[in-house]
Amino acid sequence: MSTAVIDTSDQSAAGSEPAASHLVTVTFRIRRFNPEVSAESAWEDFTLDIDPKDRVLDALHRIKWEQDGTLTFRRSCAHGICGSDAMRINGRNRLACKTLVKDITAIKDGKGAKPILVEAIKGLTVLKDLVVDMEPFFQAYRDVMPFLVTSGNEPTRERLQSAEDRERFDDTTKCILCAACTSSCPVFWNDGQYFGPAAIVNAHRFIFDSRDEAGEQRLEILNDKDGVWRCRTTFNCTDACPRGIEVTKAIQEVKRALITRRF
Ligand code: SF4
Ligand code: FES
Repeated sequence: MSTAVIDTSDQSAAGSEPAASHLVTVTFRIRRFNPEVSAESAWEDFTLDIDPKDRVLDALHRIKWEQDGTLTFRRSCAHGICGSDAMRINGRNRLACKTLVKDITAIKDGKGAKPILVEAIKGLTVLKDLVVDMEPFFQAYRDVMPFLVTSGNEPTRERLQSAEDRERFDDTTKCILCAACTSSCPVFWNDGQYFGPAAIVNAHRFIFDSRDEAGEQRLEILNDKDGVWRCRTTFNCTDACPRGIEVTKAIQEVKRALITRRF
């Protein structure tokens, strides 16, 4: 009788710990800030032996659990849904839980070629390490009335809408409010008063909803000196969005609706 042989050489595919030979040595250079210690931020290096298929969030967890418990960052779902771990990684806004180490550093002779730079997103006040004050961001979101407004005509069941009408705002429903777009915008960096791309995306989601009745009101809110006209169409926001939302296109559609009053 023959004996079945199970190949366990690819252990990571089988869901168990990777063999040590899979590990590479990578340095994470993290911009630290603790207002109780210093008014200035400073870079600090942490070196790990890590599976290149691990995510930056995994590395941050290991640094916190194994090397420095004071390292501070936000995360919740770890699967690209909650939007809480947007940070600047190698100079670009990304979600730490969606960024694989192998995709952001060249590996040579078992080592990362360069340190991976990790810092807080820009344009919002840093509270500690990678945690920023999100309140101005959420205030702009609240200001555009991100909810359905209707008067009367209560349906007995759901408010019906054609597939075509639903399609008009499908892209902007995908926003997870991570702030990667707003905090990549040079206009927002220079003047935090600008509503920013994320607020406009969430206004778009309701302005173009055929069931909503507050489109004019939202357009007037965005017609403000700190509204859509501040956008300089740099496309940073579209490049930064981890959900692949065409942010700049949505902003352009809101601008056009303001001019034509057709939406
Ligand atoms: S539009 Fe994209 S980048 Fe901006 S907050 Fe929403 S999900 Fe994040
Ligand atoms: S931890 Fe939720 S999106 Fe990354």
